[in-house]
Amino acid sequence: MTKKVTKIGVLCSGGDSPGMNAAIRAVVRTGIYHGLEVYGVMRGYSGMVEDDIVKMESRSVANIIQRGGTILKTARCKEFYTPEGRQIAYNNLKKKGINGLVVLGGDGSFKGAQTFSNEFDIPCIGLPGTIDKDIAGTEFTIGFDTAVNTAVEAIDKIRDTADAHDRLFIIEVMGRDAGYIALHSGIATGAENILIPEKKTDIDRVIKSLQEKEKRKKLVNLIVVAEGEDGGADQLAKTIKEKVPGLETRVCILGHIQRGGSPTCMDRLIASRMGYHAVECLIEGRHNVFVGIVNNRINYIPLNEAVKKKQRISDEWMDIVRILST
Ligand code: F6P
Repeated sequence: MTKKVTKIGVLCSGGDSPGMNAAIRAVVRTGIYHGLEVYGVMRGYSGMVEDDIVKMESRSVANIIQRGGTILKTARCKEFYTPEGRQIAYNNLKKKGINGLVVLGGDGSFKGAQTFSNEFDIPCIGLPGTIDKDIAGTEFTIGFDTAVNTAVEAIDKIRDTADAHDRLFIIEVMGRDAGYIALHSGIATGAENILIPEKKTDIDRVIKSLQEKEKRKKLVNLIVVAEGEDGGADQLAKTIKEKVPGLETRVCILGHIQRGGSPTCMDRLIASRMGYHAVECLIEGRHNVFVGIVNNRINYIPLNEAVKKKQRISDEWMDIVRILST
């Protein structure tokens, strides 16, 4: 028989993503609406281990829906990987009477949540918060839309200067193991090539097409590369400079700019919906699931599916890139 939750904690773990604040707000206000006590755990699992846990009121989350980053701060916590660390974390939650947890983060954070709730009697609900969109089982993650729009805005600006100088630009976007930011921002900006870790790129083919474009005097080219792709933008630039020396080539690494900024309307909406449903999940006695969205409907997906399964990118996407950029 599952115990009724009365006091819940909410934390952000791993890399931050725009919209985390909107999700925290939704968790806090939905919890309070249902008569629960809600606690914010500072700096992810570190706050659980170090007992840095603060009571949240409805007003603690006022004026944050539009803010990037996270008011709870976030971290990657080494101690939480050890059974001893998790035991300390559990004792600290118990001391406050916290009997349910909402974890905002990516697959690494979900892994921690799953291990913890398998070991102890505290149900954990995940909320997918990552700009990389690399969580299987959901079509959206909190922060992806903002990050991809930031990348699009930056790449549009780069195209202006690339055009003015007739240059080739290689733009590296974030995505350690996933190419979604590269794929979406590349298509939306009309990039000539997109390199992502999920699909092996034939570099010789890229070189051949650049040589052919050089002959046609098509000198402005944008190549978007995911950071997880072998060697990233720098390596690719080196190869291109060797093989197509006639092209004036520049590299731009967008970096952490993609993690910040005010969340888009889309990210605020999905964060609000997901945060609301996370609390409903705890009240219904669910555990070890995360809240995802598929076909615009809320889905509850076992945490281990996000951890085990890899997102797939269909070949159709790459056909679109190739055909539209000729
Ligand atoms: O997981 C999100 C992400 O932004 C990745 O795209 C990137 O590789 C990583 O985090 C960077 O992490 P850090 O901020 O710790 O350097």
